[in-house]
Amino acid sequence: MNLELKRFITGIPKAELHIHLEGSLEPELMFELAARNRLELPYRSAAQVREAYRFRDLQSFLDIYYQGMSVLVGEEDFRDLTLTYLERAHADNVRHAEMFFDPQAHTGRGVPMETVIRGIQAAREEAERRTGISTRLILCFLRHLSPEQALATLEEALPFRDAITGVGLDSSELGNPPERFAGVFGRARALGFRLVAHAGEEGPPGYIRQALDLAGAERIDHGVRCIEDPGLVERLRRERVPLTVCPLSNVRLRVFDSMADHDLKRLMELGLLVTVNSDDPAYFGGYINDNLLAATEALGLGREDIATLARNSFQAAFLGPKERERRLEELDRFVSDFSREV
Ligand code: HPA
Ligand code: ZN
Repeated sequence: MNLELKRFITGIPKAELHIHLEGSLEPELMFELAARNRLELPYRSAAQVREAYRFRDLQSFLDIYYQGMSVLVGEEDFRDLTLTYLERAHADNVRHAEMFFDPQAHTGRGVPMETVIRGIQAAREEAERRTGISTRLILCFLRHLSPEQALATLEEALPFRDAITGVGLDSSELGNPPERFAGVFGRARALGFRLVAHAGEEGPPGYIRQALDLAGAERIDHGVRCIEDPGLVERLRRERVPLTVCPLSNVRLRVFDSMADHDLKRLMELGLLVTVNSDDPAYFGGYINDNLLAATEALGLGREDIATLARNSFQAAFLGPKERERRLEELDRFVSDFSREV
């Protein structure tokens, strides 16, 4: 790829809207936290951990993902995890990050909700103070567990209501359609939470429709399988429903055979409000700029496309009007300064 385009991609101000904090746990930090908590890992080195990251599908990843996060025990661990991600994102010129966390994967092994959220909060404050990055936190329900457990988790998080902007839905998609969680999403909506859901990653377009119509999702995480349903594509375009697409994740989890087969560019050409994100960067081989670079290389994206993706990321973010305007102005300034220079 030409150097100018590379510099444009890395330098452009952007928002990341689909990142699982637990999926940003790099093997090196995993070993550090295992030592801190006197836990044994089934691996001898960070390199050996990375060797194990060969996935067949979403479930084969999730099995390793839940195992990896078992080193997160104390408040400091959640703080270090979050701060490490936010500093790494800042290095990619991410100005705003909306981060998922999976509280049930922690409370289920005896780590209190309070420990998780207090650790994350400490890092958010410190990162914003150090770098100016703004953040939101989105609590995800694990869809392989029951709707009753999701509801109990929501209630458990209410003492920390101010820390949490929205709720989401993740984990094993096939066989766990959004309609199962319509009740808890309704309750979350009544409490003023913003709503997002993973849908159409491995699941069919009908799951995206359910996420919109039954769960009330405002944004669809992944959503790449919408392309199989032209009526749905037209609706997503008309209603400007954002899709938070994660190219490296989709290739690693075999949603597409290769990056050249990814439908990101087709979705953009169809007029959808697409964003590019890293999902679980420690597991899928890269952060947001790595995703943009890989997609650009394989799909032949240009500077205009990158500017559109960056603009979309701020349009789709849960930002107030003033903050959104400020971020978009910074983006426009970058684009026009860049054109003047080259
Ligand atoms: N899909 C579903 N659940 C997840 C993912 C994902 O890509 N990453 C972490 N949990
Ligand atoms: Zn995800």
